[in-house]
Amino acid sequence: MYASLKSIGAYVPKNVLSNFDLEKMVDTSDEWIKKRTGIEIRHIADKDEATSDLAYEAAKVAIKRAKIDVKDVDCIILATISPDYFCMPSTACLVAEKLGIKGVMAFDISAACSGFVYSLSIAKSFIESGLKNNVLVIGAEKLSAITDYTDRGTCVIFGDGAGAAVIGRSDDKKEAIVDVMAASDGKYSNLLITPGGGSKYPASEETLKKHMHYMKMAGNETFKIAVKTLTEDVIEILRRNGLKSEDVDRFIPHQANYRIIEYVRAKLDFPKERTVVTVAKYGNTSAASIPMAINDAYENNNLNYGDLMLLDTFGGGLTWGSALVRFAQK
Ligand code: ACO
Repeated sequence: MYASLKSIGAYVPKNVLSNFDLEKMVDTSDEWIKKRTGIEIRHIADKDEATSDLAYEAAKVAIKRAKIDVKDVDCIILATISPDYFCMPSTACLVAEKLGIKGVMAFDISAACSGFVYSLSIAKSFIESGLKNNVLVIGAEKLSAITDYTDRGTCVIFGDGAGAAVIGRSDDKKEAIVDVMAASDGKYSNLLITPGGGSKYPASEETLKKHMHYMKMAGNETFKIAVKTLTEDVIEILRRNGLKSEDVDRFIPHQANYRIIEYVRAKLDFPKERTVVTVAKYGNTSAASIPMAINDAYENNNLNYGDLMLLDTFGGGLTWGSALVRFAQK
């Protein structure tokens, strides 16, 4: 019995924030952003649209494509760093309510950009142990709510969106989630941090004044660790599964920066045409980035039933991970 990715879905908010819009907000340029990150536009949720609304839209698509009844979902895991509410209730509970699902385990996990891969690891264990039958895994972010639009080091990068997948059961090895690796190192927790509003620096006039409730990033230091970690991660997961890069049909890395993706891709000798890149049109959507990229590949006829996907991610925490997953949507 294998855990299996039965479907994918995504939702992208309609409002677009272009590099030219950002030129009017901070000291930056379309040329700089494109050259240093590969990003051209990002999508931004409406004021009254919360992370759970984006997640709900993506989840509906994934459930429909899995060809299951919504009542068959017996667990919801939602990865986010931009939950609707601070602490409680979890965004997963809000999505359960919107979907009309009652009485199932529903919880959020916080692993920044690695959230989807972390969630896959949990869902895989739940399915393989027989604890659950259909786990709805969601990565959803309204990062615009925690982005400082006076800080050019971060505001040009982040966007909003959601992706979702149904993880079910299969007795066919060709439909399996083959392996998931997830790891962390808290030593570098200060490189990507939202310092204010938690128990360390509870919300106060001072935290507001100092913009401490927004994401802060030591971009260049993070960049260097990201390229090294993302490369090592892929080498390790391929090694421990006795695979080579040519066995992989689609390399689907976290969409943080085109230069990071290109570095890792070239180092591992993955052909461009087998690498999924969406950063130009969505920016970095943290936990939503990988499921949105899988969905993008699927909707553009660039992903087929049985394809072996190699997911690779890195983010705040620091957290990182990789996964070998067969695309089992029929
Ligand atoms: N527009 C114009 N100039 C800028 C901008 C901007 N938006 N941002 C920075 N600069 C300037 C800097 O001030 C600096 O100027 P100086 O040389 O006069 O001092 C110069 O550009 C170079 O700055 P760097 O920070 O070295 O720029 P870098 O090439 O590293 O690009 C970036 C910055 C895009 C943030 C990059 O470092 C990056 O992508 N980092 C990794 C992000 C990542 O992987 N994050 C993890 C996932 S996110 C998550 O977990 C939530």
